[in-house]
Amino acid sequence: MQSFDYMTPTRLIFGKGVVEKLPGVMTQFGKRILLTYGGGSIKKIGLYQKVLELLRGYEIVELPGIQPNPKYDPSVLDGVRLCKEHHIDVILSVGGGSVLDCSKAIAAGACYDGDPWDLISYKVKAKSALPIVDILTLAATGSEYDAGGVISRTETNDKIGYIDPLLYPAVSFLDPTYTFTVSRKQTCAGIADAMNHVMEQYFVEDATLLNDGFCESMLRSLMVNGRKCLENPEDYTARAEMMLACTYGCNGILALGNSGSGWPCHGIEHALSAYYDITHGEGLAIITPRWMKHILSERTLPRFVKYGINVFGIDASLDPWEIARKAIDETYKFFEGIGIPMHLREVGIDDSRLDEMAHHIAVNEWLENAYVPLTEKDIKEILVASL
Ligand code: NZQ
Ligand code: ZN
Repeated sequence: MQSFDYMTPTRLIFGKGVVEKLPGVMTQFGKRILLTYGGGSIKKIGLYQKVLELLRGYEIVELPGIQPNPKYDPSVLDGVRLCKEHHIDVILSVGGGSVLDCSKAIAAGACYDGDPWDLISYKVKAKSALPIVDILTLAATGSEYDAGGVISRTETNDKIGYIDPLLYPAVSFLDPTYTFTVSRKQTCAGIADAMNHVMEQYFVEDATLLNDGFCESMLRSLMVNGRKCLENPEDYTARAEMMLACTYGCNGILALGNSGSGWPCHGIEHALSAYYDITHGEGLAIITPRWMKHILSERTLPRFVKYGINVFGIDASLDPWEIARKAIDETYKFFEGIGIPMHLREVGIDDSRLDEMAHHIAVNEWLENAYVPLTEKDIKEILVASL
């Protein structure tokens, strides 16, 4: 078991109606709030109006229009400028992972005098960041409980996971009823994203029985409850369990004591989103089974056998290679069965830029240190198999 030094400082406030606690929570951070949100879903569900009502008496500056795969220019730059101009005390992010990720980059940029890209690109380490409170409306990324944000810079095709302990939200409000209106497409993408977060931590060299149990149970929960959310989008119990499972995804708790994995599917997917602006969870669902097939070997076989038996209930008396192949097929069939497009061509990606993307990934994502190291050639093969 590997040694670790771990802390997640985020306070989670979970359940129906918890937003009523917002005024009490916000008082500790100051009077001037930057309210960040996306393209308008929070207005449709009445949450925007509710927040303004609850925060009467606060000075609120708004940054609307944050897009999925949040963009450095204009959203991060505008947010940093607003924070500086209005001497903002705290950022309140209301929306999905993209709004929250963008808010994290703004929080650090607001306390830095230079170009915020210096921080996101790890040229300079942030010394401080504004506190962040969020009200999450989409279960997927785990950004509400982790220290990372993923920011896209269109002109360079970069999509960078910016991680710093300063970026943990101070408080995350998780009310599953706000996720009732999430579309079928985004619900599926959320299921696939959260499942892949678990897999990125499960497929490692050195794992514990304890972590394997958490991961296997989370995968089963996400499949069972994910299907229920799709059947009945207002099933509170299913939306609630899915939301909590997603929350555990990226804050490292599933991997304490494990060896590293390098998060290879994320490394590959971030380039797909950067080049083609596709939905993150869909990209992951397409890549994951192809990556699994690519890394299956004598060395990785026992992990796939365990995964197949404990997650999909495959007959343990079968030949190990048969179990492993069935497990990969079941993974594919689950994603396909809930309606995710399972080929890159279906999400608008053809073979014209595969070489360029494979090179970009190999240079920027350090996948030669992954659980199964991936060279540029490996990455290209996975992309070709995903077409
Ligand atoms: O923009 P609005 O109008 O709010 O609509 C959004 C958006 O169009 C909509 N939506 C959100 N809540 C809704 C809703 N629609 C109806 N009802 C609601 N309650 O859903 C669309 C997608 O939103 P987005 O925030 O982009 O989705 P998600 O939460 O999946 O975030 C994806 C981003 O997070 C990054 C991804 O790369 C991607 O950029 N990730 C962040 C991670 C992290 N911070 O730890 C880890 C992940 O691996 C991931 O990379
Ligand atoms: Zn993800």
